[in-house]
Amino acid sequence: MEEVFKAIKEAAKRVSSEILDADVSALDSENITGDTQLKLDILSDKIIEDVLKNVSSIYSIISEEKDSEVIVNEDGKYIVGYDPLDGSSLVDVNLSIGSIFGIYEGGISGKDLKAAAYVVYGPRVELVIATDKVRHYRLKKSGEFEFLSEIFLKEKGKLNAPGSTQKNWFPFHKELIDSFFKDGYRLRYSGGMVPDLHQILLKGGGLFSYPATIDLPKAKLRMVFEVFPFAFIFEKASGGAIDGKVDLLSLTPSFAHDTTPCFFGSKNEIERVKEVYARN
Ligand code: AHG
Ligand code: MN
Ligand code: MN
Repeated sequence: MEEVFKAIKEAAKRVSSEILDADVSALDSENITGDTQLKLDILSDKIIEDVLKNVSSIYSIISEEKDSEVIVNEDGKYIVGYDPLDGSSLVDVNLSIGSIFGIYEGGISGKDLKAAAYVVYGPRVELVIATDKVRHYRLKKSGEFEFLSEIFLKEKGKLNAPGSTQKNWFPFHKELIDSFFKDGYRLRYSGGMVPDLHQILLKGGGLFSYPATIDLPKAKLRMVFEVFPFAFIFEKASGGAIDGKVDLLSLTPSFAHDTTPCFFGSKNEIERVKEVYARN
């Protein structure tokens, strides 16, 4: 597994350097989910593929920007699912973006996840790797990632990051989100799940939600590339991650790009979501 993390560090350095001079124009193509692809999405995907394919323990890779799985080493055992550039539509306004990685073995269900990692490209480049513990690193001028600390969520936090289009929320969901604000939670939502979740992880807790809506019953975020890796990280940091009713890591995607409603947070907030969703 260490060689996978080493490759992720290398890919993070290369992607972060490409972002500096990135051409953020859109291509004519869409990915399989129907998102417009930027040149930078494709370039990041290629950089990560090139690095991961040289890791002998990786059997295959599957990415948000690829239609299907690519076998890279017949003798490998891990399947790496990744979102090469999450929040890429925010590059032109210079907000933080990220890359997300799930390291699976034997399949691409939540239960097959063995480790997860994400990189935040912000004012600084940071990396979080979760195995049995969740570890936080920062890229130094020297070009090395320095270990900073382990990440633990408090029982209850103060931040609320409510995703998706409010006009299409179910009334009970709106009531739930409003109830957190009434209790003093503060709005923190940039539109990039990586920095939004990173903030909740580092500031002790809160809730990030991307619910089912009237127009999108399966919501937007993808299980294999976005949701499962963060669910793993939140669970290992002593928080929780559910689809409203069940643990996200108990889910199996119907196809590689399948999506699901999702909630990530500290224990108290996740329990509150569960209570409300059980009644609706
Ligand atoms: P991507 O750029 O990989 O398509 O994903 C963006 C995601 C995620 O980062 C964010 O939380 C969400 O889309 C924002 O969606 P809304 O604008 O619908 O809230
Ligand atoms: Mn994404
Ligand atoms: Mn993406």
